[in-house]
Amino acid sequence: MSMEEHIIVGIDIGTSKICTLVARVEDGSNLRILGVGIEPSQGLRKGTVVDLSAAALALSRSVEKAERTSGFEINAALVSLAGSHVSSINSRGVVGITGGIVDLDDIDRALDAAQAIAIPHNREIVHVIQRNFSIDGQDGIRTPVGMHGYRLEVEAHIITASSSTMENLRECVRASGIEVSQFVLNPLASGEVVLSETERQMGAAVIDIGGGTTNMAIYIDGDVWHTMVLAVGGNYVTSDIAHGLRLPIAQAEEIKLKYGHAQTSAVNPEEQFTVRSFGGDAPSRIMRVDLAEIIEARMEEIFHLVLQEIRHSGYDGLLPAGVVLTGGSSLIPGTRQLAAQIMGVPARIAQPQNLIGLTDQLNTPAFSTSVGLLEWALLISESSQHIDHQRSKHMKNWTEQLKDLLRRLLP
Ligand SMILES: Nc1ncnc2c1ncn2[C@@H]1O[C@H](COP(=O)(O)OP(=O)(O)OP(=O)(O)O)[C@@H](O)[C@H]1O
Ligand SMILES: [Mg+2]
Repeated sequence: MSMEEHIIVGIDIGTSKICTLVARVEDGSNLRILGVGIEPSQGLRKGTVVDLSAAALALSRSVEKAERTSGFEINAALVSLAGSHVSSINSRGVVGITGGIVDLDDIDRALDAAQAIAIPHNREIVHVIQRNFSIDGQDGIRTPVGMHGYRLEVEAHIITASSSTMENLRECVRASGIEVSQFVLNPLASGEVVLSETERQMGAAVIDIGGGTTNMAIYIDGDVWHTMVLAVGGNYVTSDIAHGLRLPIAQAEEIKLKYGHAQTSAVNPEEQFTVRSFGGDAPSRIMRVDLAEIIEARMEEIFHLVLQEIRHSGYDGLLPAGVVLTGGSSLIPGTRQLAAQIMGVPARIAQPQNLIGLTDQLNTPAFSTSVGLLEWALLISESSQHIDHQRSKHMKNWTEQLKDLLRRLLP
């Protein structure tokens, strides 16, 4: 198959929407979007399947649309993964260096050793991301191949997820005749799209605030150092509004999108809007600050939880490039300022950019994960065997190339 004919497919199974994208890889590293299928999600809560047949049906609609627009039949895809069943640990693997000089095989064995940790039988490894190496106790080595020594140690970030939850997702996708070629953790997919190479190198976190989940990945020195999935998102904001203002959920969602703000102090204290109730009662007036207060409280909570996680992970103060916000809920006005204020670092909002092809619906933060899956597929397709030529688009020199060559993302 020539590079020009290389077709990749990503299915982002979100709590709010399911998005199937079909793309062609052009000139080795450009993506042209050929097929788009966006459908409201069904049968999912907090990023996991709670009603298999409903979820499978919504997914099949999304897939059909993408097949119709692209003219391709889909039989394998990369699929996003989120939910509180995902967890991550850091692990070390130690091996003796055969022949006194580190080669790719030594690195393979070290990574295997890092995976030999006690994982409960009901969990699966989703990603193994290598970070630093050390040789004979000297740590901080980024590219060990070719170096002399006796003892190689790798530090790896291992992401695991509940087997049954993953099996349910697989089942859902299989119902449309599609095999999951790989699960990709939601924030890792988003990170591929929204973070610049400079941000990754300097140290930054991507925070994807969706409907049912908030996902974070911390990048330091160009690598993933920490990941996290929280089971809160924009749907909680909506249900808070419904409770607080005694409105049906659909109406709460509508006013959130229309008048919502995450910073009470930025809202004109006089401003009001009217809400038509369904019961035929007289329309009621709502102060916009009252709405903002509800939204601010929940968004504050989300950012405090994220900050807490950053502190626990030990990377507090290591994020000079700040945080990059994405996901549908980052569109609530005032979110960027609130995040910067609570976390005390620069914040910006990001979305997929520079796309070619059928892109008119995708240029918004809600689709960072969806497009990120394609970027991820591109990374793997550029790889030989299990070794990723990570980010070869940005490769500058041979050390970069070597580093990229060595980066492994398993399975
Ligand atoms: N313009 C907007 N203003 C405010 N909120 C918005 C806007 N657009 C979308 N949202 C909110 O974003 C959320 C959906 O975001 P997104 O599409 O990223 O979620 P998802 O990927 O389906 O869910 P998840 O990743 O959590 O499983 C909803 O709560 C929705 O109310
Ligand atoms: Mg999402």
